[in-house]
Amino acid sequence: MKIAVTGSTGQLGQIVVEQLKKRVPAENIVALARDIEKASVLGVEVREFDYNKAENLAGSLKGIDHLLLISGTDFGSRVEQHTNVVNAAKKAGVKWIVYTSLLRSETTSLNLAPEHIATEKVLKESGMAYTLLRHGWYSENYTASIPGALSGGAFLGSAKEGKISSAARADYAEAAAIILCDETHKGKTYELAGDEAYTLSGLAEEITKQSGKNIPYNDIPEQEYANILKNIGLPEVFADALANWDVSASKGDLFDESQQLSKLLGRPTTTIAESVKLALA
Ligand SMILES: NC(=O)c1ccc[n+]([C@@H]2O[C@H](COP(=O)([O-])OP(=O)(O)OC[C@H]3O[C@@H](n4cnc5c(N)ncnc54)[C@H](OP(=O)(O)O)[C@@H]3O)[C@@H](O)[C@H]2O)c1
Repeated sequence: MKIAVTGSTGQLGQIVVEQLKKRVPAENIVALARDIEKASVLGVEVREFDYNKAENLAGSLKGIDHLLLISGTDFGSRVEQHTNVVNAAKKAGVKWIVYTSLLRSETTSLNLAPEHIATEKVLKESGMAYTLLRHGWYSENYTASIPGALSGGAFLGSAKEGKISSAARADYAEAAAIILCDETHKGKTYELAGDEAYTLSGLAEEITKQSGKNIPYNDIPEQEYANILKNIGLPEVFADALANWDVSASKGDLFDESQQLSKLLGRPTTTIAESVKLALA
């Protein structure tokens, strides 16, 4: 049985490969990457795999039984890219695709949803066996702002008092590895998020507690937040997206209390306090 992981050079994909190595022999794992040099450190077979090179994908999937399709990063092109992968998997005889989608993709206000819904539809219509891992927010999305908050003296955002049930990227990666090794998860859809919810004020309090520096949370209007992000050098599209995602957070779109992720893991998810500690280390 061979398991392949797309986006294996990414932050999530690397941990999935590590976690798979704990569960199956390394020779049963294939790292799919557009940059094979970058993937060579993973200690498993590497095959070239660029979502945009539709004609090459089926060849790279030869002999693969289970495939983890990690959603791409080219917003606006992802439906076409993911469709290329699904079509190639079908052609190559892959038996099962596990896809990293978005928490409550069908009802969330997050502007990331349409591409995920469209990919889910492609999977459903492919006739292949599939499993949807609908990911909530990665805690690192927020902890990445800690250095900026410490130097600027405040944590900024537009999420108001919206509750956020994030989990560490490593939690989502471990769950993916668990699922890929167990065919009883075929056909299932999981809404995955952290066990404990927090607000950005709560996160700022945690940063204050752990850093010893007073970091208040300043909630500001979406456009003002986007402009600040642009002024510190973020690309316009990304700055606008980050501010807009906070507005969705304020509406509760990052909140979830189903605890499906910890049930899959068989342990609690990583708390935001632990993620803050890691970010400060
Ligand atoms: N729920 C959340 O909070 C959240 C947060 C961040 C990301 N995400 C989603 O989850 C995915 C994984 O997250 P991550 O943190 O691992 O992101 P990441 O570190 O940016 O990794 C993205 C991976 O996708 C690969 N990739 C991008 N375009 C590709 C293409 N055309 N063909 C083949 N591979 C391609 C990258 O390859 P290279 O190494 O060659 O660049 C990399 O391996 C992201 O792609 C995004 O869709 C979700």
